[in-house]
Amino acid sequence: MSNFFAEGLIQWNRASNRRQMPWKGEKDPYKIWISEIILQQTRVEQGWAYYERFITSFPTVAHLAQAPDDQIFKHWEGLGYYTRCRNLIASARYIYNNNGGVFPGNYKDIASLKGIGPYTAAAISSFAFNLPHAVVDGNVIRVLSRVFGMDTPVDDAASRKLFAMLADDLLDRENPAEYNQAIMDFGATICKPKAPECTACPFKEDCQAYTLNCIERLPNKQKKLVKKKRYFHYLIIDHNGKLYLKKRAGKDIWENLFEFCLYESDRLLDAEELVKTSFFQEKLGGASYNMIHISPVVRQQLTHQELNGRFFRIKVKNKPRGLDDFTPVAEGELSKLAMPRFILSYLHEKV
Ligand code: ADE
Repeated sequence: MSNFFAEGLIQWNRASNRRQMPWKGEKDPYKIWISEIILQQTRVEQGWAYYERFITSFPTVAHLAQAPDDQIFKHWEGLGYYTRCRNLIASARYIYNNNGGVFPGNYKDIASLKGIGPYTAAAISSFAFNLPHAVVDGNVIRVLSRVFGMDTPVDDAASRKLFAMLADDLLDRENPAEYNQAIMDFGATICKPKAPECTACPFKEDCQAYTLNCIERLPNKQKKLVKKKRYFHYLIIDHNGKLYLKKRAGKDIWENLFEFCLYESDRLLDAEELVKTSFFQEKLGGASYNMIHISPVVRQQLTHQELNGRFFRIKVKNKPRGLDDFTPVAEGELSKLAMPRFILSYLHEKV
């Protein structure tokens, strides 16, 4: 039935795993789904409070399916990767309208929902229904590549398949829920990316990476991520105490979130350069304005992009012509809108 790895893992889980999280042991597939989507690109420490707020406001699929988009986005605000939120909304409405509000109970139907890939489908079907599907994510690949000394590059599809096959072989089929949660916790607390706790590891005698002294080289990541650099200039236009915002559209970051008037360019501009651009002239041309504050450079790292930006607060006497498709919002009302973390971090420090 079992193998040394699954046995060691389950033993470690029962004897030594002290990790507590609100979704641990949860059996409701809806709640597991929410937790797993939040945790896809988010650290547990950050995701925890979001999960609790989300579940309090939307305790069932029906609540989520019937809530207005903007209210749901407000709950997601600051988490990033907003496609996750859009897919959650679409799938909740699909389940509510086409499946009587009942979350599907088998791997295939779970995996067919928007935003759910093999990892999330395995997590939900094992945690909620104890079905024998092994989770494979970056943490699992790290653990397996070290213990079994697999140095195939982890970025390509062929070796991903190899890891998936090994993970499936190792899974404790009588205990998939416990096994899957245990391997995630083990990857997070013992077999960590940096400075793993090898002396506390139950596999230290068998682990190839430890015994061959090559922990730092595994997993073998060959592709170096090249980040695209972007430069944002936000005009915070203030007319009679109202600030002008617009909902972002298009297939870029932050779709559906609100932002101030944005000028993006291929480098960072100072105020003198900015006012000379045709964009600035178009938006504020003719109007008399007073630039009352220029922020320091704000930076944010996303997985594939590096964002750099400045905020320019500008008071105007008359509403400029170029702002017809913007909405005036009283400063005290700003917190009702879902905005990107990039803007929030500026607002919280300043305004
Ligand atoms: N990361 C993704 N899913 C997780 C889970 N269920 N527990 C801990 N970390 C996770």
